[in-house]
Amino acid sequence: MTSLLFPGSFDPFTRGHLNIARRAAKICDKLYVVVMNNRKKTYAFDLEERVNMCKLALQDLDNVEVVGSDGLLVDLFKELGCNAVVRGIRSESDYRYEAEMALANKLLCPDYDVTLLLCRSDLSLISSSIVKEVAHYGGDISGMVPGEILKLVEDRLMKGRPL
Ligand code: PNS
Repeated sequence: MTSLLFPGSFDPFTRGHLNIARRAAKICDKLYVVVMNNRKKTYAFDLEERVNMCKLALQDLDNVEVVGSDGLLVDLFKELGCNAVVRGIRSESDYRYEAEMALANKLLCPDYDVTLLLCRSDLSLISSSIVKEVAHYGGDISGMVPGEILKLVEDRLMKGRPL
């Protein structure tokens, strides 16, 4: 059985993330979407809220399981026995970031491998940061986040909470 692990902050989960998850789910038997913490970021949604948003957005995909973890990616990779990690890239700078992270993870775990999926061009300008910025000022984010979590994201971010 082939299993892939799609990790990310998902703060919040976007239509770009959804597209990567759908495509990754097609090329493996089991996809673990893992909500993690990136120490370089401060979050608008806590880990549990981000996990719940991913579950709502991915509920129609039978071979996808959403989990949350505050640990190291390589530890979860080994624990779940995955074949590879999957990440989406939108640009050259994303590629550089991913290459750096993959090399560090490979040092920690020689079995570690990553599959990079190119983001669909019409979704490549969407990021969680853009969603937070637009929503904060009351803009329309319906084309940026999955319909299942739109209200939840709007309610939280439009109340003027810090970005
Ligand atoms: O969506 P992001 O913020 O780009 O995802 C980055 C994430 C969460 C996958 C990365 O920061 C991560 O793997 N965090 C878990 C802790 C860890 O293993 N850090 C070492 C990465 S080299």
